[in-house]
This record gives sequence, C-alpha cells and structure tokens, in this order.
Amino acid sequence: MAKRGYIVTGTDTDVGKTVFAAGLAAALNADYWKPAQAGTDGGTDSERVARLAPGVTVLPEAYCLATPCSPHEAARIDGVEIALERLALPQTDKMLVVEGAGGVLVPYRMDVLAADIFAHWGLPAILVARTALGTINHTLLSIEALRARGVAVAGVAFIGEEEPVAEQAIVEIGKVEHLGRLPILDPLDADGLARAFAVSIRTDMLA
Ligand SMILES: Nc1ncnc2c1ncn2[C@@H]1O[C@H](COP(=O)(O)OP(=O)(O)OP(=O)(O)O)[C@@H](O)[C@H]1O
Ligand SMILES: [Mg+2]
Repeated sequence: MAKRGYIVTGTDTDVGKTVFAAGLAAALNADYWKPAQAGTDGGTDSERVARLAPGVTVLPEAYCLATPCSPHEAARIDGVEIALERLALPQTDKMLVVEGAGGVLVPYRMDVLAADIFAHWGLPAILVARTALGTINHTLLSIEALRARGVAVAGVAFIGEEEPVAEQAIVEIGKVEHLGRLPILDPLDADGLARAFAVSIRTDMLA
C-alpha cells in the first residue's frame, strides 16, 4: 500500500482534476491512480494523464465503467458491484496521486460516498476548485464535508483566471492553504503543463 501521496478531489466534475493531477504526479515523481473511471467513450482520465505527464506511471483502474455518470449508477448499468476491497490503495514505492470521481460526496455505492473512501485511505486531499463565480460556496461546502469525515485537507488548488477576492475568502473562512492557481493553458500539452505547474503551484508544500 502507498504510504505517501494525495487524493485529488474537486468541487465538481470537470473542474480540472485530471489536468492538475497529471501536473502534480509529474512534479512529485509520483504514480497516478484513478480508482473508478465512469465513462470511457471520450477516452479515460488515465489516458489523459499518460499524454499530459509522459514520465508518470499510470496504475490500472480498479473499475472502468462505460457510462459517464455517478460511479454508483455507472456500476449498476454495467451490472458491477463496487467492492471496497478492490479500492484498496495500490502498491508502489513512490508517492501516489489518486484522482477521485467527480466531487466529495459522489456515491460509489448508495452506502459509500467518495469522502468515506478518502477517510479510509488516510491520505490528505487536495481540493481543485474553479475561480469562477460560485466557487466560494462550492469550495467551503467541500472542505466542510471532507473535514466532517476526518479527511485532512492539504489545500485548495485553483483553476482559471485570477479572482483574488474569492480566493482570499476561501483561504480565510475555510482556514485552508492556497496551493496556487493553474491558468487555463492553450495549448494544453505536457511541456506547457510542467512549466505552468512549476511557476504556479506550491509543490514545495506537497513534496
Ligand atoms: N489548466 C487547464 N488548462 C486548459 N484546459 C484545462 C485546464 N484544466 C482543465 N482543462 C480542460 O477542462 C476539461 C475538464 O478538465 P479535467 O478533465 O481535468 O476535469 P476533471 O475534474 O478531471 O473531470 P472529471 O470529473 O470528469 O474527472 C478538459 O477538457 C480539460 O482539458
Ligand atoms: Mg478527471
């Protein structure tokens, strides 16, 4: 079982967890693991990480489910029962970056939410949040839900345009570390991500 690493979770689906996790795994020389992929048609998060962080070892998913929806429903559609034993952290001597599906209270089963699994793993979580309007509410809610389940919050990593007022409110009210802000990259490729990560994200606080 991996002893060190981070869970990369987010305030929502599509906030930029995969892009951030790819940059983080490359920066920390960590392995990447997506325990449960829901939705395979447009490619998987593991494939995207392999492309955005070519030096990173991508460990195989425990579950690769066809439908892009909540893992509990994607599993039901595929006729699969999600077993917690299969979601045990994989073996590695390196650090591990684990990307959760969706957000903090996403069900993997009706009786098991993402944050319950995070608590069981015992790794600190990095919360990926947009800087766009609405982020204060979503981010503070997610922080509360993580802490209520005993998950340590290593900090918030923002994605998008600088929004100092919102970022400051989250840090102060949420009593949480600001791990930096990754801008929207165009083009988005491995070299550009590594460069942006090096100047934008406080990897010194995470190594
Ligand atoms: N920093 C960035 N620069 C450019 N594009 C980005 C950035 N972050 C995210 N994106 C784009 O936004 C979309 C969503 O990002 P991403 O797949 O990382 O989200 P996610 O939170 O991992 O979603 P999911 O919940 O499906 O796992 C993708 O098309 C991705 O390429
Ligand atoms: Mg993702």
